[in-house]
Amino acid sequence: MPADRIANARLRDRVVSAEAAAALIQPGETVAMSGFTGSGYPKAVPVELARRIEAVHAQGLPFQISLMTGASTAPELDGALAKADGIAMRMPFQSDPDARNRINEGKLDYIDIHLSHVAQHVWFGFYGDIDTAVVEVSAIREDGSLVPSTSVGNNKTWLDLAKKVIVEVNDRIGETALRCDPDKIVAVVRTNGPDRNSPFSPIDATSEQIAAHLIEFLKHEVAKGRLPANLLPLQSGVGNIPNAVLAGLAKSGFRDLAAFTEVIQDGMLDLLRDGVLSYASCTGFALSPQANETFKENIDFYRERIIMRTQEISNHPELVRRLGCIGMNGMIEADLYGNVNSTHVMGTRIMNGIGGSGDFARNGFLSAFLSPSTAKNGSISAIVPMVSHVDHTEHDVSVIVTEQGLADLRGLTPRKRAQVVIDNCAHPDFRAQLQDYFDRASRDSYGKHTPHLLPEALSWHQRWLDTGTMKA
Ligand code: COA
Repeated sequence: MPADRIANARLRDRVVSAEAAAALIQPGETVAMSGFTGSGYPKAVPVELARRIEAVHAQGLPFQISLMTGASTAPELDGALAKADGIAMRMPFQSDPDARNRINEGKLDYIDIHLSHVAQHVWFGFYGDIDTAVVEVSAIREDGSLVPSTSVGNNKTWLDLAKKVIVEVNDRIGETALRCDPDKIVAVVRTNGPDRNSPFSPIDATSEQIAAHLIEFLKHEVAKGRLPANLLPLQSGVGNIPNAVLAGLAKSGFRDLAAFTEVIQDGMLDLLRDGVLSYASCTGFALSPQANETFKENIDFYRERIIMRTQEISNHPELVRRLGCIGMNGMIEADLYGNVNSTHVMGTRIMNGIGGSGDFARNGFLSAFLSPSTAKNGSISAIVPMVSHVDHTEHDVSVIVTEQGLADLRGLTPRKRAQVVIDNCAHPDFRAQLQDYFDRASRDSYGKHTPHLLPEALSWHQRWLDTGTMKA
């Protein structure tokens, strides 16, 4: 790493090994780390911290921390610390399999909140003091200001509030700067690791169909005069299906689009390159290794078109409302009336978390939830009578899209919504069963506004658990 990556002489004197930096974190501390959806998280200190925690545990002594970030990170952070049984409390979003297992076994406390709330709730003191911040940057300037790496997230808040700061200087990319009192920076660690950068799956027929339905709907809205020809700023959740929607937009004939989103993934870089998208605002990147290389090779092109913001701005409800964003997010299941479960498989087992989906669903101009119509090789319907957990209520969901079709729920009574969801989104294998439920509920329900047969609605998922379908 070139020496001028750390241009401030005082901070150059504080360069230590990752092991020595990790030793500055004490049991019971609240530690706030950088990182947002696999980008810009510290690569070296968490691994050394996990090693240290394991060594302390081997002596029969306790050592756990409370851990906050921007959003999800990677195996070197969440995975390493969870495997070491080093996390007592995690907030606000994570997607690591080892951490997930511990959460679902009841061994790790997890607080799953809207990403736009995090900074303010921490400022208000709901999570106590932040003892240490561990923040990845790409350089330290001569005046001590810190150049962000591939995500911004809550880094400004962590640097403002933490009692002591550990900085990881990663020899990657970066622009402009964050400010932090150099006296608070107790350690600087040199690293040179890549972000998580997982490749995307090739776009399959199901994702392509979901994307096609949504794009057709957007064109219809333009034709009706409810959206301008260049749409409204797009928010796209992470994952293969949102990425397929972006790929579909590339071929759709739309031009001069804008994105006000959390994460930029491969599809968005392509849209920028081809001029379909004029600019994109984000708080982090989630690129495949190949797209990451293309991004670096064309950094001068992209720097003119991408702006990174702190996540309290990228997800701010007021901005999402004022800009009139179009939210496009994945879901686990939706019910007949348009309630959406994004987080809990079978109502109890958390998958990832709500992330930013609620910020955009509640406040956007349009909010679309996308999923294949079935899970587990077609044995489970993603359309159910009543969702087993509610993240987004019927009041916040505009359209539901599966490979079967799209249900536009706007302006419909609950019973009309149910019919359009069954007709347009349910898989044919489950359509008759759902129709039968809805017909009997419409006849026998206590209230006829949102008809339900409660014992049956509540036992719907239990049957899949009892028959072992979930193990398929
Ligand atoms: N019933 C049972 N299991 C289901 C299911 C359902 N209705 N729907 C999905 N699953 C299971 C899948 O089988 C898969 O299980 P596996 O890991 O054991 O194979 C798992 O849930 C993930 O499903 P998959 O289809 O691979 O999900 P995805 O990558 O498309 O992500 C969400 C879907 C909902 C998990 C994801 O969009 C998410 O975490 N959303 C919440 C956060 C968010 O929206 N963030 C956006 C802003 S960053």
